[in-house]
Amino acid sequence: MMKPLRIGLLGLGTVGAGTVRVLADNAPELEQRTGRALKVVRAAVRDPHKARDCDLHGVQIDADADALVRDPDVDVVVELMGGTERARELVCAALAAGKPVVTANKALIAECSDAVFAAARASGQAVAFEAAVAGGIPIIKVLREGLAGNRIDEVAGIINGTTNYILTRMSQDGVEFAPALAEAQAKGYAEADPTFDVEGIDAAHKLAILAALAFGVPMRTDWIRTIGLTQVSSADIRYAKELGYRVKHLAIARRGAAGIELRVEPTLVPKNSFVAKIDGVMNGVMLSGNAVGSTGLHGPGAGALATASSVVADLVDIALGRALATPLSADSASAVVPAEVETAFYLRMQVADRPGVMKEISTVLAGLEISIEAIVQREVEAEQDATVVLLTHSVRTGALERAVEALQSLPVVHGPIVRMRVEHLEQ
Ligand code: NAP
Ligand code: HSE
Repeated sequence: MMKPLRIGLLGLGTVGAGTVRVLADNAPELEQRTGRALKVVRAAVRDPHKARDCDLHGVQIDADADALVRDPDVDVVVELMGGTERARELVCAALAAGKPVVTANKALIAECSDAVFAAARASGQAVAFEAAVAGGIPIIKVLREGLAGNRIDEVAGIINGTTNYILTRMSQDGVEFAPALAEAQAKGYAEADPTFDVEGIDAAHKLAILAALAFGVPMRTDWIRTIGLTQVSSADIRYAKELGYRVKHLAIARRGAAGIELRVEPTLVPKNSFVAKIDGVMNGVMLSGNAVGSTGLHGPGAGALATASSVVADLVDIALGRALATPLSADSASAVVPAEVETAFYLRMQVADRPGVMKEISTVLAGLEISIEAIVQREVEAEQDATVVLLTHSVRTGALERAVEALQSLPVVHGPIVRMRVEHLEQ
């Protein structure tokens, strides 16, 4: 039997405690697979006296993260603290001390990739980050290993559990946005700062990682058009349903003639599509490769044990000496200008409830060669207004933006026009 792999944990919150539990619960299987024990020997937290949701018998716990990463009795450092600055310092120090690192921190990987992977290359140690994207779904392994024989053309789907949980509660149970978010936080799904989830920043971090693996583009979150969930109302969810769609917070990285299209935004998807049926905290990702065609993965995207499943998978690779050292290489591929992206759109606007309004709207759209696929008009109770909801056929984003501007300036259109893309992902 080889000597145990001695693990130092930075953080014992939702994912840290989950990792301790999975390592304990599955110890016999892990030992059988790796030929050695995977043993947590030390942990660093902010408050060493706080009660934890796991058995920490025999684990040294204190607040000295710097000492942990240098400790000669720690073989591998697992960063589960979150944040970027402090996490980057500690991860780079661990690598410099000759220790491989496992992390679930997508903000760290996406925003500090240059520093982290330079430190990994300099030390010859691995940085493993399966848990950083889509929680328990082994998407990193699938992209890097399972689909390595393909030219990847598209990676698209739901990669944030909190926003999918909120949309599902709003859509299926009529729960308002704020209480649905509070539930996701109580279940341990949300980031420490939940605006990362609801504004799409967390999904953009994850998409940047997936796009780097799939297409070799540099990890640039500023290349990703990112729109949060806060503009989605219960009314939009209801109208989308009437039209045969569901609203999902989609992340898309797609190869096109002009470059790679990168976006995270609330999007209408047909109600019978793969992604429409991914509910609650589940994530679902469609992958298209030129050899395999289209394939999809779904599973829990956040939560203690599901995320720990991915952390422990990385620890198994490290215990077996098969973790990849520096998996990312940037090439010259560039991102597509958002105005050039072509999709169908959903528009909702409040208009004066009088004859001729529909004609004015259609004239503006026809003038920009935008054709309408479906249109719904509803009277707004106790007001002299009506709501018009329409779906366009596929149109360049630039033309759609010009149409919205023109419609917005019509005296019959009252208040801001809501717009969302409509996507028919391959399945
Ligand atoms: P969390 O519950 O807030 O736990 C964070 C842990 O880190 C806590 O134990 C905290 O200590 C410790 N910590 C924070 N700052 C520290 C510092 N400066 N020095 C020492 N310890 C520090 O967070 P989490 O949900 O487990 O998430 C951890 C990481 O996993 C994040 O990068 C997150 O994005 C990622 N992730 C989370 C999930 C999920 O479902 N939650 C899924 C995938 C990835 P105290 O407990 O003493 O405050
Ligand atoms: N806050 C993240 C989510 C955690 O809800 O998807 C998993 O990365």
